Amino acid sequence: MAAWNIGKVVEIKQWSNKLFSLYVESDIEPFKAGQFIKIALEIDGEVIGRPYSLVNPPVSRPLEFYCIEVPDGPLTSRLTKLTAGDKILVAPRAHGFMILDEVPPARHLWLMATGTGVGPFLSILATDQPWQHFEQVVLVYAVRTLSELGYQERIAQIAAKHPGQFAFIPFLSREPSDFALPGRIPQAITDGRLEARAGIAISTENSQIMLCGNPQMVKDTNNVLVERGLKKHRRFDHGQITAENYW
Ligand SMILES: Cc1cc2nc3c(=O)[nH]c(=O)nc-3n(C[C@H](O)[C@H](O)[C@H](O)COP(=O)(O)OP(=O)(O)OC[C@H]3O[C@@H](n4cnc5c(N)ncnc54)[C@H](O)[C@@H]3O)c2cc1C
Ligand SMILES: NC(=O)c1ccc[n+]([C@@H]2O[C@H](COP(=O)([O-])OP(=O)(O)OC[C@H]3O[C@@H](n4cnc5c(N)ncnc54)[C@H](OP(=O)(O)O)[C@@H]3O)[C@@H](O)[C@H]2O)c1
Repeated sequence: MAAWNIGKVVEIKQWSNKLFSLYVESDIEPFKAGQFIKIALEIDGEVIGRPYSLVNPPVSRPLEFYCIEVPDGPLTSRLTKLTAGDKILVAPRAHGFMILDEVPPARHLWLMATGTGVGPFLSILATDQPWQHFEQVVLVYAVRTLSELGYQERIAQIAAKHPGQFAFIPFLSREPSDFALPGRIPQAITDGRLEARAGIAISTENSQIMLCGNPQMVKDTNNVLVERGLKKHRRFDHGQITAENYW
């Protein structure tokens, strides 16, 4: 099997000066919502590839990636120069265990992301699985400023489609706002603000929690959840926390 398929960029949506979504046509094997795939560009004769979460649900095309331009990032500084019609390399197969098939049954599903880590959760939320398997689904999405809170319209559509079953809790850490929580996710768990806003409690009995994005957020949030008695979920040692670090 070839290491890379040759894909085509069909659209680019710019959300802010450094956040953008890439829409790509490419044949890939069937995947599960929540998985990631490698995309790559040939740069100065070298193929530079990085994993990216799929934002589109498995049944829809084109492939969709929510990306941030990292200052001097080897791949992202070139991804930002792409335009519709350009060639991009895409691995044939997606990977990853941050999928609902791996998450044990519970009453409440908490999806907690920083930045572009919201991408795989949007894919999951666009499938039937969370709505069929959980009574309540809470999306917690933390960014620095409102201009970096991408995909608000899509999140509003999810809320409209699942009234009473879905709560959206945004965090803006570096800008005051009248609708988002200030500060960071782990602190808001420690001081009770997150659960108060959601209207449900986090517990070992009722909660499954998926964390994605900034590894320090994943670590800090994991630590406060462990203090509350929750533990990492493993296939053969069931717990409540499933996580993916972006770097
Ligand atoms: C499983 C997995 C899935 C990923 N999915 C996505 C995704 O959907 N969207 C996305 O933008 N990135 C995603 N990433 C990160 C991505 O693979 C690249 O690291 C990133 O795009 C930067 O590439 P680069 O070559 O420009 O710089 P790199 O050399 O890869 O990264 C340089 C530094 O940039 C910072 N950084 C990297 N990624 C991010 C990010 N997403 N948000 C904030 N800071 C970051 C870190 O400090 C990192 O050390 C994912 C990573 C993993 C491991
Ligand atoms: N422009 C700059 O000054 C600057 C500086 C550093 C990095 N960068 C670059 O800018 C990009 C940052 O992207 P981003 O804003 O999407 O990602 P980010 O830095 O991960 O921030 C996203 C959200 O995660 C929060 N967060 C950070 N650490 C956390 C922790 N330990 N626990 C809980 N929450 C935490 C942030 O809160 P806080 O706001 O409280 O951190 C913010 O609300 C990266 O590419 C990085 O390389 C820029």
